Amino acid sequence: MRLSQCHNFHDFRRLAKRRLPSPIFNYIDGGADDEVTMRRNSAAFDAVDLVPHVLRGTKDVELSVEVMGQKLALPFYLSPTALQRLFHHDGERAVAAAAAKYGTMFGVSSLGTTSLEELRRTHDTPQVYQFYFHKDRGLNRAMMQRAKEAGVDVMMLTVDSMTGGNRERDKRTGFSIPFKLTLAGMAQFAMKPAWGINYVTHEKFSLPQLDDHVDMGGGTMSIGRYFTEMLDPTMNWDDLAEMIELWDGKFCLKGVIHPDDAARAAELGCDAVVLSNHAGRQLDGSLAPFDALGGIVDRVGDKLDVMMDSGIERGTHIIKALAMGAKAVGIGRGYLFPLAAAGQAGVERMIGLLKDEVERDMRLMGAATVSDLTRDILRPR
Ligand code: LAC
Repeated sequence: MRLSQCHNFHDFRRLAKRRLPSPIFNYIDGGADDEVTMRRNSAAFDAVDLVPHVLRGTKDVELSVEVMGQKLALPFYLSPTALQRLFHHDGERAVAAAAAKYGTMFGVSSLGTTSLEELRRTHDTPQVYQFYFHKDRGLNRAMMQRAKEAGVDVMMLTVDSMTGGNRERDKRTGFSIPFKLTLAGMAQFAMKPAWGINYVTHEKFSLPQLDDHVDMGGGTMSIGRYFTEMLDPTMNWDDLAEMIELWDGKFCLKGVIHPDDAARAAELGCDAVVLSNHAGRQLDGSLAPFDALGGIVDRVGDKLDVMMDSGIERGTHIIKALAMGAKAVGIGRGYLFPLAAAGQAGVERMIGLLKDEVERDMRLMGAATVSDLTRDILRPR
């Protein structure tokens, strides 16, 4: 299977599965517990049908949006995700370059494998910094200061990860950073020598956002342990208020599902919320963001920008979310599988395909601009 044979999310997923050692593939692919929420996130879109308008032809279709004061050429962006260097040796560099080529926003993770300074220097497309709130308040302040000095546009605090989700696939393979695998996990690495050669012949794995402050390289740490041991389990709304004040710039709260929380975020001065359940990787059984979207837009859509992620696989998913009132939609696995499959070329191909899907579907819906996508074109089953 070659890149040119990848036409959608599922094709890229299949190619990534061939390229990656299975512990790494399963880290991306998996969710918490029984993965019910993970599946539900995408299935939620099928519960609503599109009701297209006809005879509203247009020469051009305008896909741009503005969110949190940032201008995006596309109504979807690349959400921050961790450890990209494990999926392809170019990691965040490939993802940021592909986002920049299409003029859309990308995110750098606290657990990113390229420094936010480098990415900020290399590209001038809007960049969000995904922030985990650590027990060590000095570390939090230092990380914010660095991001500010680097010229990051938006601070995005993730609040759905108060503790590690129960990722049973990772438990089985022993997935952790750096690698400490179960015997079965190690055998899986031996089966993908091309990945191994690439990994060891390129720049050493590191976590530059954290390396100055914590020794993640010394021992091994699973993602579950990072969440549970390093993040602050007492984080609350007062901490958020303090962070917003300290940051003194565009601020986005990611991982909101309850409408009361969205309202509280608005009261505290957040510029945006991202409705998200971490793609089903944290609390299994959690409501799908698409099912939470309408209610939250009705409640606070006039006070802040409402975005969503988790489960987006198709252009029609994006169109349904926009019509329900989302200002923009985030993609995670949707670009990680292409990254693993073919690096920057893979991510570019995926963005291009998704852009074509959205544009084609907007024509079929009779929508010339994103603002033409309104709730009258949605019908619950
Ligand atoms: C995860 C975190 C690190 O889902 O975002 O694994």
